[in-house]
Amino acid sequence: MSPFPRPGYEKLTRYLPDRSPVELDLSDNTNMWGPHPDALAVLRNAEPDDVRRYPDLYADDLREAAAERAGVTPENITTGCGSDDVLDSIFKASGGAEGDLVSLAAPTFSMTQPLARMNGVPSRAVMWEDALHDLDRLLEGDPSVIYICRPNNPTGHMVPEEWVQAIIDRCQGGPLIIVDEAYIDYGGTSFALQAAENPGLVVTRTLSKAFGLAGLRVGWGVGTPETVEAIDKARGPYKVALLSAKAAAVALRDEAGWVDNMVAECTRNRRRAEAELDRRGLAPLPSHTNFMFFRAPTGDAVEDARVLRGMGVGLRPFPQTYPGGWDGMRCSVGPWSMMETMLTTLDEYGATVEFTEASQRNVEDIGPTSAGLPTRSASGGGPGGGGPGDGGGGAASS
Ligand SMILES: Cc1ncc(COP(=O)(O)O)c(C=O)c1O
Repeated sequence: MSPFPRPGYEKLTRYLPDRSPVELDLSDNTNMWGPHPDALAVLRNAEPDDVRRYPDLYADDLREAAAERAGVTPENITTGCGSDDVLDSIFKASGGAEGDLVSLAAPTFSMTQPLARMNGVPSRAVMWEDALHDLDRLLEGDPSVIYICRPNNPTGHMVPEEWVQAIIDRCQGGPLIIVDEAYIDYGGTSFALQAAENPGLVVTRTLSKAFGLAGLRVGWGVGTPETVEAIDKARGPYKVALLSAKAAAVALRDEAGWVDNMVAECTRNRRRAEAELDRRGLAPLPSHTNFMFFRAPTGDAVEDARVLRGMGVGLRPFPQTYPGGWDGMRCSVGPWSMMETMLTTLDEYGATVEFTEASQRNVEDIGPTSAGLPTRSASGGGPGGGGPGDGGGGAASS
């Protein structure tokens, strides 16, 4: 008899987004300005021992650099092979008991549910608009973990700080709260300082977005020293490659302010591109990240993405995820020449098919903030849909 699959793994699939070659790939929220130059210099100047030797057991210099950035101590920092891996270690370290449950506001980062499932923990999704109106909805089912993505992927919205604070205050001594801050480097207040003091809170961060190091796979998390030690037991030693850790540490220290300059340009270009998308009736949601989320031009995101990819521009389709249950598209923001190519390609596409009228009403009717939140009709199961239910796998990650 085959030992596979492990119980609970039946619904998991490999993660397989469309990564076929495309001239301009705006589909995965990576940094379109390139990698942090100081990190690249580390790789270019690599010594044989950087490859021959094992890395630090727990990436101590990287922990120091992350601690400096967050204003906490190295004892407050755990690290991993991408923040996916940090999330995995958190679930591994905290879950697995009978009745454990991850509660999350959806649609959101679509690897969260599979990662919980891989660690034997089922999950339950509450639509953002419901959770924002009534945070008790996230507490239903007596969850052991609450996951909040802030700013959120794929919608780009930033839930109000007070709302997160209210959950933290409500959950003292209760479920562990994870705040995923993969995009916080693009602006907004981090919960890292609070996580360093509060045993009920962990914050996760990544080098894959603002620092441009997705290929090096480096992520980190902030918690109390006791929380970090518990997570590190699940993480295990040697998790961050030696060169990855070295490159990530100089990038985090960002001595010449490369990240700030890039974020300023990214924000300018995002606003400009959002205005252009709006002019074309595609109603982008207000974003706080390095990507935009807008109505699928014809209403069929998978088909739109397929055709646009054939025309040289890769965007990520999200069926039934835009407010009102419409199909949405996610598009990375990059240097303006890239945004121009994307807009021109959309125009060429628009000349061959009829774009559906994007309804602003859907954006305005969605909850207590103007953040632009998807409504209840969003469903799970599609590529990155991330809707209610215990997500299996194979959904869009990055
Ligand atoms: C919200 C969020 N969290 C975590 C990750 C994982 O990032 P990485 O594993 O590359 O650090 C991503 C990647 O897209 C993300 O969007």
